[in-house]
Amino acid sequence: MSTVRTSADPTRRRAATTVRRDKAAGEFLADVLEGLSKPQKTLPCKYFYDARGSELFDEICEQPEYYPTRTETAILDEHLDAIGETMPPGAVLVEYGSGSSTKTRLLLDRLEDLAAYVPVDICDSHLLRSAWQLKAAYPRLTVRPVCADFTKPFRVPRLDGRPRVLFFPGSTIGNFGPADAIALLTGMAEIARPGGGLLIGVDLLKSPHVLEPAYDDAAGVTAAFNLNLLERINREFDGSFDLDAFEHRAIFNADDSRVEMHLVSQTEQVAEVDGTQFRFATGETIHTENSYKYSREAFAGLANRAGWRVETVWTDPLDYFGVHYLVAE
Ligand code: TRP
Repeated sequence: MSTVRTSADPTRRRAATTVRRDKAAGEFLADVLEGLSKPQKTLPCKYFYDARGSELFDEICEQPEYYPTRTETAILDEHLDAIGETMPPGAVLVEYGSGSSTKTRLLLDRLEDLAAYVPVDICDSHLLRSAWQLKAAYPRLTVRPVCADFTKPFRVPRLDGRPRVLFFPGSTIGNFGPADAIALLTGMAEIARPGGGLLIGVDLLKSPHVLEPAYDDAAGVTAAFNLNLLERINREFDGSFDLDAFEHRAIFNADDSRVEMHLVSQTEQVAEVDGTQFRFATGETIHTENSYKYSREAFAGLANRAGWRVETVWTDPLDYFGVHYLVAE
């Protein structure tokens, strides 16, 4: 939870990194054991993104069935001038999660009077590398990466008290349940301060015939992404998951308005993680991820409850995806 500073003492820095890594591994293991002990087994989705997972996710975004990435990028590309006119002049752009460099560069290219760019992400070499690359590509722009888990409180550099516009693309808000989504949006409104903005991508409710294939592509990339979680557990915690004995499934749950991702046990089996055994019945699932889908009205209601008002929504011709500009009250 701090802005990035490099310590002058490399030994101390290495020691601090090791402690942080051990703590992270300890939390990961505790989360895995807890999730697999529940009646409906779960695994927390934040662990999808190891090196292989991040690679697979980039590949998901290129699958023909996965419309959100290309639709959101096209909406931004088409409406960036209008978006720029909606934003307060001389704003600081604060990006939540800095993975989507294509969309970021689109904004930095076209929103000419941005004062600074502040990517917020968990601290790893990826955040720093992409920050330095942007710094090199946009020499006139102030770039101030912040190392933080954005679901927890963190501080944004003051930067002369300039107005702030937060950027949260990718429909990542859909990966939070309603209560967590409201908590996150409420925290965002505090960071934006009254009059500040939030440019947020929201995947809209549509037919399950479009939704389900988006999370179960024919090439099997999303399946590999989901199964990679078990592979990661096998590798990091001496796990014994048989990857051939689980199958990826994506189903639209209309009651909860969400696509659910599961790993379905193909047989009765036992898997061990760090010495603890977990029993699976045939057809039993591990619920690994949700992706909530909103009508415009439902999302406006959620935003209102979190201290935001919807100023403008830009969409694509099929109304698949909504890029929303919200103003903090
Ligand atoms: N924010 C993305 C979404 O919900 C994340 C995502 C896409 C995802 N495909 C996935 C997460 C497959 C888990 C599994 O659309």
